[in-house]
Amino acid sequence: MLRRKWFKLLVFLCCLAPAAHLGWRFWRMDLTPNPLEFLEHFTGDWTIRFLVITLAVTPVRRLLHVPDLIRFRRMFGLFAFFYGSLHFLTYLYFDQLFNVHAIVKDVAKRPFITVGFTGFVLMLPLALTSTAGWIRRLGGRSWQRLHRLVYVTGVAGVVHYYWLVKSDIRLPLLYGSLVTVLLVARIAWTLAAKTRATGGRQGAMAPASRSPSMAGRT
Ligand code: HEM
Repeated sequence: MLRRKWFKLLVFLCCLAPAAHLGWRFWRMDLTPNPLEFLEHFTGDWTIRFLVITLAVTPVRRLLHVPDLIRFRRMFGLFAFFYGSLHFLTYLYFDQLFNVHAIVKDVAKRPFITVGFTGFVLMLPLALTSTAGWIRRLGGRSWQRLHRLVYVTGVAGVVHYYWLVKSDIRLPLLYGSLVTVLLVARIAWTLAAKTRATGGRQGAMAPASRSPSMAGRT
């Protein structure tokens, strides 16, 4: 089912649903008595959700043995960027009225804005190089190395969220735990794969060292 075109379209529409909901409320001017806060929170929430979903794809496909899940990772990552862009635009336009001086001052002065800004800036190269053409141009290994930045963005997003909440830290802690577990899983897998590769190389060498010709030399 995961390979079907209609299923991919369905997932795409589900990812777009929050934006459609927001558009609808915008159209009806139904944005609560504090529209700025509503917009910032709505778009910020969906940015961090899609970041976590993107980070979860690889561990989930390995744990549940569903390799085809990989077909959706790029889409989820691009939706994280899409909601992140809406979030940033909300800040630029509704919060700062595109006042460049005020924006630069705010990014430099308020640590939670600095961290959020860093997280968003790191998403830019990931979104730009998400195409097959860029994977070819950069080469698989360099591309993969670059795309590990998504973990830094995830951590930045969590720190940003943690710093901005005033009292109830349950949600930032939940996202923080999820990002930590996913990061640790990734590191553990990478180390295990390296150990296997080293073991494999040594295993391949072993028969040669035990071969009669080699044995004669030792
Ligand atoms: C990786 C990028 C980012 C993520 C994941 C993210 C996530 C979030 C989240 C989850 C919230 C709180 C939502 C809630 O309370 O329901 C939030 C609020 C906010 N974010 Fe971000 N954000 C990011 C980038 C940015 C950037 C680039 C800016 C501006 C430069 C920014 C400015 C704000 C502001 C002003 C708020 C509202 C603060 C308040 O209500 O006091 N964020 N963000």
